[in-house]
Amino acid sequence: MKFFLDTANLDQIREAQELGILDGVTTNPSLMAREGISGRNNILQHYIDICDIVIGDVSAEVIATDLEGMIREGKELSGLHPQIVVKIPMTREGIMAIKHFSRLEIRTNCTLIFSIGQALLAAKAGATYVSPFIGRLDDISVDGVELIRSIVQLYRTYRFDTQVLAASVRHSMHIIQCAEAGAHVVTCPLKPILGLIDHPLTTAGLEKFLADHRKLNS
Ligand code: E4P
Repeated sequence: MKFFLDTANLDQIREAQELGILDGVTTNPSLMAREGISGRNNILQHYIDICDIVIGDVSAEVIATDLEGMIREGKELSGLHPQIVVKIPMTREGIMAIKHFSRLEIRTNCTLIFSIGQALLAAKAGATYVSPFIGRLDDISVDGVELIRSIVQLYRTYRFDTQVLAASVRHSMHIIQCAEAGAHVVTCPLKPILGLIDHPLTTAGLEKFLADHRKLNS
């Protein structure tokens, strides 16, 4: 399973890259705004800066909602860097744009997926990734991880190449549940990934090993 970082924060991306487990980055307009990145040129440069840090796919989202605008922006984004994946929302125009890019072999990430039917359509249109938002489903008492499991199963049944990129992942347990459900990728902030490292028995065990070593070697 691949680990993507869901942020536009360059320091966090550097930290995850140094950890050695980072496979890519996803961004969205809210995450770019959180970093104070505004203006077309600054936004495009920020995507290039992210690509220069991480070795792996970097999702960059279109702002246009009409087909012509999505295609124009998507071409500009994909031309920025070979690592860019064009992120397109699940709308009628979005499906058409994904189909268009699929014919041109431009990679896409269909975002804002909340149902199995949306995931089916995105795969049929040729999306490289689909992004089901599991945390936002959990927020409204719908089991997000179950949606991941259903999409993975559906894609296996019909041998779709589309990868399931679990998004809106809020905590470490989500990562584990997505792995068990067969997600190809999880994307989340750095904190839930770091949360996988610590265990009180690891800490206690290491302290004891070092104390025993010190007894005979000091
Ligand atoms: C996915 O690509 C989105 O950027 C993201 O995971 C949304 O997460 P949120 O629900 O925490 O905003």
